[in-house]
Amino acid sequence: MNIKKIVGERVAKEVRDGDVVGIGSGSTVAEFIKALGKRIESENITVYGIPTSYQSKILSLTNGIKIVSLMEHSPELAVDGADQVANDLSLIKGHGGAHTMEKIVAFSASRFTVIVDESKLSESLDAYVPVEVIPDAIMQVMEEVRSLGGDPRIREAERKVGPVVTDNGNLILDCDFGIIREPEKLSVRLDSIPGVVENGIFPSRMVDEVYVGRGSGKVEVLKK
Ligand code: 5RP
Repeated sequence: MNIKKIVGERVAKEVRDGDVVGIGSGSTVAEFIKALGKRIESENITVYGIPTSYQSKILSLTNGIKIVSLMEHSPELAVDGADQVANDLSLIKGHGGAHTMEKIVAFSASRFTVIVDESKLSESLDAYVPVEVIPDAIMQVMEEVRSLGGDPRIREAERKVGPVVTDNGNLILDCDFGIIREPEKLSVRLDSIPGVVENGIFPSRMVDEVYVGRGSGKVEVLKK
């Protein structure tokens, strides 16, 4: 059973003809985009998309979603996956390296819906926090992250030597903070370090609901 497909299809049903949708990144969102593409074809509806990465832009284009820009539109709805979802619905995102645009698009949307399978649920946040950094600032930012109690590692690329370079031309530090008791406070402190572009903590106040695909094939909706 493909749980990501089930939850992606479920949320694709929420999109209405003419909607502007913020489109996150990752394998669960890929299922959402494909399901939306099927609806566009079979129901002859028009959906406008604001993608958050090259991955979601290319997939949206090949599935009939019309790409528009955040400079001209704010989305009615943003849909995205997550790497970890805490009980209070705060999130860690960015294990796919796209959290900066994902946060900007989610923040600008009237409604932010998260789609995950149940493996992403956790009592509190304790996964590593991705931090996007301007390349020349990487050493200073690592020092500052250590002073906040984190253990930073530069994310290494696969099938390329050296570090991952984001869609925005920056580097990523994956930072282990253990259990994060106050996610919003840590997020604010990370973003106040000069050279940090954005971090992957999404405070719960940003999230409207989380659709969770269960192993049974059922989809549960978590709200605050
Ligand atoms: C990318 C993200 C993704 O939403 C997150 O990694 C979840 O991906 P997947 O659905 O493949 O597990 O934050 O930056």
